[in-house]
Amino acid sequence: MRILVIGSGGREHALVWKIAQSKLVDKIFCAPGNGGISKQAECVDIKADDIKGLLDFAKKEKIGLTVVGPEVTLAAGLVDEFMNYRLKVFGPDKKGARLEASKVFAKELMAKYNIPTASFKIFDVASQAKAHIDKTGAPCVVKADGLAQGKGVIVAKTTAEAKQAVESIMEDKIFGDSGNRVIIEDCLEGQEASIIVITDSQEVIPLASSQDHKRVFDGDKGNNTGGMGAYSPAPVVTKELFDQIKHKIIYRAIGGLVKEGIDYKGVLYAGIMITKDGPQLLEFNVRFGDPETQAILPRLKSDLVEVMLAVTESGLARLRSLSWDSRACICAVCASGGYPGDYEKGKEIFGLEEAEEMEDVVVFHAGTKRLSDKYVTNGGRVLGVTGLGNSIKEAVNKTYQAVGKIHFEGMHYRKDIGNKALISSGTPFQPKLRVSPK
Ligand code: AMP
Ligand code: GLY
Repeated sequence: MRILVIGSGGREHALVWKIAQSKLVDKIFCAPGNGGISKQAECVDIKADDIKGLLDFAKKEKIGLTVVGPEVTLAAGLVDEFMNYRLKVFGPDKKGARLEASKVFAKELMAKYNIPTASFKIFDVASQAKAHIDKTGAPCVVKADGLAQGKGVIVAKTTAEAKQAVESIMEDKIFGDSGNRVIIEDCLEGQEASIIVITDSQEVIPLASSQDHKRVFDGDKGNNTGGMGAYSPAPVVTKELFDQIKHKIIYRAIGGLVKEGIDYKGVLYAGIMITKDGPQLLEFNVRFGDPETQAILPRLKSDLVEVMLAVTESGLARLRSLSWDSRACICAVCASGGYPGDYEKGKEIFGLEEAEEMEDVVVFHAGTKRLSDKYVTNGGRVLGVTGLGNSIKEAVNKTYQAVGKIHFEGMHYRKDIGNKALISSGTPFQPKLRVSPK
């Protein structure tokens, strides 16, 4: 079978790497891909939001399964278009993608189906949002309704900061029409975890738990980034906690979507805050997490293509469960100097081969470009260096040993990925069984 993966980041490299291991696959294309992906797939120069270009390509190349990485592609309705031509595609349709493309839609669904989440109010007039902030005070969280490349959430410590966020989003329109409405919600406290499940709307198969590291510096200091690293499993998600998340969040969401007439198929990603009152849902994403995927897929033993095909055929029930490597996995992101602010591109990357020669290490590329026999930087997050170990500690040591072999001018990375898991005493849940949303 011929597979098309859409996207160009570390998540897509991990998907291509995993898909390449499937016996069902003859050839993989990636649009547009990146330097590292070009070793395992044929990269084609079509942008992730060029729906017509992707459709023409899939028809011409007789693609048997298309796997969508980024949310923009799903929100633009690629799945609906492909289904019109009976092309198999893994991901939710445009209606389902609203769970991520409209935070207002997502929050209203959470409220309607009694999913635990921060209390919130929705505003389409800036002055009313600011008056509300004056009344309720800080800290609070201001969220732009629409897609904003992961930058649309401001956790404000003061009312001045919150009102400034409202002005930037609603009046200065820094995210364009995505800022026509805002949500102001309570600020929650606790540890975050990512629960990613695969569903065909009837059945749910959870992937292993994971935890992202959003801030740029060690100790969760500095600005938010696209994610500086991840690890799996997250011991903080114990079996008891996972059961709560499953019943109060995942099943209610999928059941709610069915009631709303949405036949949701693909990945459902729940960003959870584990508060003293139990798990609360921060957000839904409608695709694999980045960089969580880079830490999860090296642990997955089952054939991912088989799972994805089953989803497109509404046949997830025929798969009994997924098989997992019990070892821990750490992914540390190496970023360009200056990221998440301005950075330069085109820096030669050294030491990749030495790192990749290490046993149980994979280097996933994100912002890289291949120039004949070398790789150069081509984005903010450049590499996701990933290592497996019998314990989190072993995986941490292995990963940072591999990171130590790699360098490029300006490279920086967090040195504390996995530390939270080292101090957590919980036993992570084992995502062994299929769970049905009954
Ligand atoms: P989101 O894009 O909704 O996941 O938000 C991005 C990040 O903002 C989350 O990973 C949290 O760190 C933070 N965040 C979102 N909502 C809240 C909230 N209600 N309370 C505290 N932090 C939040
Ligand atoms: N790791 C956060 C995200 O994928 O949105």
